[in-house]
Amino acid sequence: MNKIERGSFGSKLGAILAAAGSAVGLGNVWRFPYETGNYGGAAFILIYLGCVFALGLPIMIAEFVIGRSSHANIDGAFQKLAPGTQWKWIGRMGVLTAFFILSFYSVVAGWTLEYVYEAICNGFAGRNPEEFVVSFEAFSTNPWRPLIWLVLFLLATHFIIARGVEKGIEYFSKLMMPVLFILILVLVGCSVSLPGASAGIEFLLKPDFSKVDSNVFLAALGQAFFSLSLGMGCLCTYASYFNKDTNLVRSAVSVGLIDTFIAILAGFIIFPAAFSVGIEPDAGPSLIFITLPNVFQQAFVGFPWLAYIFSLLFYLLLAVAALTSTISLHEVATAYIYEEFKMPRKRAALIVTCMCIVIGVLCSLSLGVGKQISLFGLPLFDLLDFITAKLFMPIGGALMAVFVGWYLDKRIVWEQLTNDGKLKVASYKAIIFILRYIAPAAILVIFINELGII
Ligand code: TRP
Repeated sequence: MNKIERGSFGSKLGAILAAAGSAVGLGNVWRFPYETGNYGGAAFILIYLGCVFALGLPIMIAEFVIGRSSHANIDGAFQKLAPGTQWKWIGRMGVLTAFFILSFYSVVAGWTLEYVYEAICNGFAGRNPEEFVVSFEAFSTNPWRPLIWLVLFLLATHFIIARGVEKGIEYFSKLMMPVLFILILVLVGCSVSLPGASAGIEFLLKPDFSKVDSNVFLAALGQAFFSLSLGMGCLCTYASYFNKDTNLVRSAVSVGLIDTFIAILAGFIIFPAAFSVGIEPDAGPSLIFITLPNVFQQAFVGFPWLAYIFSLLFYLLLAVAALTSTISLHEVATAYIYEEFKMPRKRAALIVTCMCIVIGVLCSLSLGVGKQISLFGLPLFDLLDFITAKLFMPIGGALMAVFVGWYLDKRIVWEQLTNDGKLKVASYKAIIFILRYIAPAAILVIFINELGII
């Protein structure tokens, strides 16, 4: 069989922090707050919690089962568990998704580095709101500057992946997750103590059900999928490095709680600060690169050193969160290449990095000078976002739920969830029921709705 040394996580804590690192990313600090702003604050948060715990966690557990029972990359996993069938195409679609997400995600991750740099040079001081818009547009459409940051970001990801599972992914997750947590707590502390911050806190805690309609449910479920890194084998690949005594259900609950907690804390950074200077929270995707640097300047007016530190820590936080996610995406593709094409891990990693640099550069250029790099009327950047988030991930998630719920031998599922009978899993039946019926049906509804088929 496979003689390649795969490696594994050295400790349970390391495994949980690595999976949580994958989940916690730009999705938490950037996307969750603006979705919350768009869809009525606390009401959205309540629905989101329902989506995470009722649907997200069972699918995460299904991914863990596939990964740990096969001890293989996402393509090899299906080939081992369902030999001679077409299920392997879910795995291959996952690898393709990893390349695509990693490429456009690294573009935005690169922007966070530019903002860290700007923050260090005190470049935000004294700008007016109009100047923040102009400077962001000039930067993101500049033909070379974002590319440098993109390449740097991918090289940092490469460096960690090339060091291996325990010395790379686990070591850096254990290092970066506590740093991220401390950064968040400091920022929340500063933000909620601003004058007028209470309006923002109220917005996050008092549900406004008047904004709730079916779109809110769709947005919440889509956000839960993205934020928990579901549907393309990231968590399968990580679970293939779990030890045999890792408690899968409990690990999934921990990852879900950490991810949700950090997303909500990110809301407690952004809304109190935004409300304290009277800026609307539903500012859309430009929130973190245009609105927030402006908010930070105005919120700490009179205390320029506080504005300086706050901005710097915030963009550092984003960069760290993005890095723990990009390594998980990179690992999906690297594990596939080194195992399926039997080559050293470092060479596989290099291939992935080079390919992502190429696709990432095209994505980045497609937002500015290279507008013609587009397909179906969408710039490459938006196209890859659309294909992965709206097509591949929901299809992958639904198929993995069906695979574990219906196809996979129930004995394997039971062995995995109970660690061969050693653990009592009270929720076993509920998990299987959700995987069989609820998850595929819910995803199908979203899918049809998002594509506007009806
Ligand atoms: N979950 C990460 C975030 O919130 C992004 C991410 C990492 C991801 N791996 C993924 C999203 C796999 C979808 C699928 O930013």
